[in-house]
Amino acid sequence: LVGEGYLEARPRSGLFVVEGLVKHATAAPPPKTTAPFEAPAKRAAKLLSELPFRHSRPDVRLFPLQSWARTHSRCLRAHGRALLSYLPSRTLGLPLLQESLARYLRESRGVHCRASQIAITTGSQQALYVLAHLLGTAGTRSLLEDPGYGLARRAFESTPTELVPVPVDLQGAVVPPGASAPVAAIYLTPSRQFPTGASMPVARRLQWIEYAARTNAWIIEDDYDSEFRYGHAPLPCLQSLDKNGRVIYVGTMSKVLFPALRIGYAVLPEELIAGFAALREAVDDHGPVLDQLTLAEFITTGDFYRHVKRCRKAYAERQKAFLETAAREQLPFDFPHTDGGMNLAGFLNNGMDDQVVHEALFQRGIDAPPLSRYSMQARLNGLMFGFTAHTPAVIRAGLRHVGEVIRTLA
Ligand SMILES: Cc1ncc(COP(=O)(O)O)c(C=O)c1O
Repeated sequence: LVGEGYLEARPRSGLFVVEGLVKHATAAPPPKTTAPFEAPAKRAAKLLSELPFRHSRPDVRLFPLQSWARTHSRCLRAHGRALLSYLPSRTLGLPLLQESLARYLRESRGVHCRASQIAITTGSQQALYVLAHLLGTAGTRSLLEDPGYGLARRAFESTPTELVPVPVDLQGAVVPPGASAPVAAIYLTPSRQFPTGASMPVARRLQWIEYAARTNAWIIEDDYDSEFRYGHAPLPCLQSLDKNGRVIYVGTMSKVLFPALRIGYAVLPEELIAGFAALREAVDDHGPVLDQLTLAEFITTGDFYRHVKRCRKAYAERQKAFLETAAREQLPFDFPHTDGGMNLAGFLNNGMDDQVVHEALFQRGIDAPPLSRYSMQARLNGLMFGFTAHTPAVIRAGLRHVGEVIRTLA
């Protein structure tokens, strides 16, 4: 203790605590912090019971936890300590996952790709962030849907590119008229426009492809929930229609599996691979290897496809329950886009203001964000209702409650 400076020896007196330490030791105790894992069961229950109608949430209760856990431990046993170290030159992801994803994307979404073009990212958000920084350099212009996905906008706002809003109609983002100056990037959600839910018809998709070729732009196609199309097969993605190689296809496991997995991906045209890898490496080298391996196995064994099919069926029933109840309760909303997705954009048809309705509902335990929240310049008036995370019984009760609250506002 003397050596470490806690005590001092005073000649002919003895050993004493060094001055200042006593005061320090009796200073106020550090503030109490809440242990993050204080009551795991309680926290988990809270997380599972999403407020109706929180948007874009898969129902994690449908997830086959047992088979995921078995696959996870089988991977760990098979590969052992080889999975525990840094994996040099795996910035774009584990080759096994790149291969199983390439197969899935080719077969289910019609994407033209080789495994080596697929970059595995920490959620699709990281793909959007890296792409925004790769393409949105100083002096460039980038086009974003208006209304649009707020986190895509945030990614671009953190770059020096000039943001140009693109209006949206019933067929999705509208192609700007006439000849145009060069554009760096165009962010689009053609399968299901976020937040309106519009599906872009093939003719409009081809116009965008032609526009991108003319302006030398890269299109970022965010295909976040296209697996959930009810009654019809998913539409071919924009990337599959493009002969010029100007489309970067971005997808996520957050909706088809579960968001906390934080695995997304981008299918990169050849000339962007090196630049993307360099930026990705500067962010976090590579993602969690064990999860990537588990996912690769999950796809290969077919568990992935079985789960997607099960969710599609459950979500179709929930959407039906939602629309039937909304009609029965005579809620003052029009729902123009109902062919799929995880959310329904309801446009107010009684002249009420969406912020006011949202606030009143939120006070009473209903979370349906106002559509105006997603706008840059667009004027929208409605609410977005997520229906996938709730059972039909919760949906019916929730909508009856919505009707009661809105009647009090009239
Ligand atoms: C339009 C859109 N893109 C992407 C995502 C998925 O993001 P991530 O993969 O980062 O979870 C979401 C999630 O809500 C979304 O709404």
